[in-house]
Amino acid sequence: MVGPFRIEGYAIVSADGMIADSAGVMPQTIRNDADQKFLQTELDNAAVLVHGRHSYEGGSRAPQRKRLILTREIAAIAPDPSQPHALLWNPAGATLEQAAARLGVDDGIAAIIGGTPVFALFLPLYDAFHLTQAAQASIPGGRPVFPQVSPGMTPADVLIRYGLRPGRQRALDPAAGVTLTTWQRIPDAAEATASAV
Ligand SMILES: NC(=O)c1ccc[n+]([C@@H]2O[C@H](COP(=O)([O-])OP(=O)(O)OC[C@H]3O[C@@H](n4cnc5c(N)ncnc54)[C@H](OP(=O)(O)O)[C@@H]3O)[C@@H](O)[C@H]2O)c1
Repeated sequence: MVGPFRIEGYAIVSADGMIADSAGVMPQTIRNDADQKFLQTELDNAAVLVHGRHSYEGGSRAPQRKRLILTREIAAIAPDPSQPHALLWNPAGATLEQAAARLGVDDGIAAIIGGTPVFALFLPLYDAFHLTQAAQASIPGGRPVFPQVSPGMTPADVLIRYGLRPGRQRALDPAAGVTLTTWQRIPDAAEATASAV
């Protein structure tokens, strides 16, 4: 938790733990309708979405959602002239609670939807991380879900290191080899618990 906020992350990754290719583009091989349906339903229940300047969930309901868009181009909090329910946020200058309050949001789920640096910022803080894996896709040289992901360290290894533990794996799209595992924070299980936000 961050104050009154429950912190939940959402990502779909390739078998090698990537969320995008080396150019920062999310390839079709890790886009999946069942995962999109899950994500869009979950985001409808979030109080606020949090993401970097190059990430966006899309879909018809996206314009209605309240969101904080991370950028270092402002000092703390600023309006986003292109989106009425969005604010630009620099965590170095304002807390999540301060930024969300400016959107009229005081509690609930803060949905963290990437990309890599934003997933990393919240690693010590996730109450849950919903990790979808597209087992038939690989993106050599791509952008990892967490910066620590490497041939010797999977996204699961990173989540364990930060004190989360896996729930039951769910088949979202068996034909495509797409599975969903929700990881939950287990108190006192973290090897690293320093607060970043
Ligand atoms: N597969 C998935 O689940 C998934 C999820 C998310 C994204 N993606 C894909 O990943 C790609 C983009 O990801 P990305 O990692 O390149 O970009 P990103 O995190 O969306 O955006 C990076 C930008 O966000 C800002 N930012 C990040 N961390 C910050 C911090 N701590 N403080 C202040 N500002 C911060 C910076 O903006 P400024 O430059 O303005 O300072 C930075 O340049 C896209 O292709 C996207 O579709 C995939």
